[in-house]
Amino acid sequence: MGLCVAHSEIVKQRPCDIYAAASTPCVAAHSTVRSLYAKYSGALYQVKRASDNATENIGLLSDGYANAATQDAFCAKTTCIITKIYDQSAEHNDLAISPGGYYKGPGPNGSDLGAAADALPVTAGGHQVYGVSISPGMGYRNNRTSGIAVKGKPEGMYMVSSGTHFNSGCCFDYGNAETSGTDTGAGHMDTVNVSRDLSWPTCHNGSGPGVHADLENGIFHWNQRSCNPAANVGGGPRPFISAWLKNNGQTRFALKWGDAQSGGLNTIYSGALPSGYAPMRQEGAIILGIGGDNSHASAGSFFEGVMTTGFPTDSADNAIQSNIVAVGYGAPTGLSGTLTPGSEISLQATTSCCTGDYVRNENGTAVIAPITSSSPEQDKGDSTWIVRRGLADNSCVSFESRNNPGDFLRHLNLALHVQQFDGTSLSRSDATFCPQLGKDGKGNSFRSVNDPTKYIRHYYGKLYVASDGDSTNPWDTTALWTDDVSFIVSPPWSP
Ligand code: AHR
Repeated sequence: MGLCVAHSEIVKQRPCDIYAAASTPCVAAHSTVRSLYAKYSGALYQVKRASDNATENIGLLSDGYANAATQDAFCAKTTCIITKIYDQSAEHNDLAISPGGYYKGPGPNGSDLGAAADALPVTAGGHQVYGVSISPGMGYRNNRTSGIAVKGKPEGMYMVSSGTHFNSGCCFDYGNAETSGTDTGAGHMDTVNVSRDLSWPTCHNGSGPGVHADLENGIFHWNQRSCNPAANVGGGPRPFISAWLKNNGQTRFALKWGDAQSGGLNTIYSGALPSGYAPMRQEGAIILGIGGDNSHASAGSFFEGVMTTGFPTDSADNAIQSNIVAVGYGAPTGLSGTLTPGSEISLQATTSCCTGDYVRNENGTAVIAPITSSSPEQDKGDSTWIVRRGLADNSCVSFESRNNPGDFLRHLNLALHVQQFDGTSLSRSDATFCPQLGKDGKGNSFRSVNDPTKYIRHYYGKLYVASDGDSTNPWDTTALWTDDVSFIVSPPWSP
């Protein structure tokens, strides 16, 4: 991976430069999105393609963002998974697909699965790059690290994750864990966790996840085994969040969260370690997307994360939060209103009943509903779609939700849903549609790639893939079919 001549001149300070200047240097720095040091010039991650099992390293553009075009070219006409996320620090603590642990993964010899390399296309630094989209069964680990805190040493960590892609399964963690892949007891883990903690179901009063510390045998919101409402990521949807944990290893720890698109950090807790966890007994392995014992029931998104040696200062954390916000995670692509990949669009119904209605996500179901310029921001975002190259066929398109990165419009039992793409071939095909001229002469119609007699259709407010008659399903009726399958592609409602 060559260093572009202008690289070090163009790239300004990055998170690990800030932590180094504050005397808490990074001992791990992982990202599929960008360099975390101004001077890093190596590869960010490795992908493996299904067609011949060949691997390729994905490196950097001159401004320090991932060269996703390398991945697109290498994985064209086949599929790829992420096999390694390189550590950009001098410690070389690379993450590989987890070999498994007490809980065996669904992969070969009990290993976990790798994330689909194209599952999470997002904008960052003005480029289209890819995040790591973890579904249950996937995870990354390094059990033989160097420089990571052990046995009560201080450390800090953060990850940029998602406030719209998460679940309540154990354990969407990033950080320090057991080297054996087994649960060795309280304090043997020190990881930041993003999830909906089902131990305290009434704790979550909004739609977002919470940011917690998984310290082993406990997901802590603070130093008690109870709900801390401040752990909740409120005010959503927040497609990109930053989640922070620091621990002095002896007496105290702190948790914070931020919106990775704007603003500063919110302190969740700063105080004593839970009883039985002081001093900490970290072992120094690194995990991503799993629990210390390889519990792999979690879902989440990962864009960047670092671990430090030493307890970081709040001012360094704040400077890094500003640095993250300056990335422009999920910022508008600049393209709009066309079916070109990267373009942001709305899809307006053309049937005379419903010309004020647009295709939108309603809690995972695709519907048409009225949207205007004065609609709430949530509704505008839920009716904004980012056109992506078709997940199953590059000559067609897929539609990614603006509010829920990694969630795509797909059919399931003939109804249209908005779901996290998990890399399976069925979810690829179900989320791929081939545009044609509108069947009623207006806009476009979208043919299902794996059910080619069927087109996206609205019927009594809901969306389906429907054929023109020829079935007992009510949404296949020929009445109004040409109108119901035709949509005007326009610029989106959200800015
Ligand atoms: O602490 C929660 C989880 O409990 C850990 O991640 C895992 O090792 C154990 O099952």
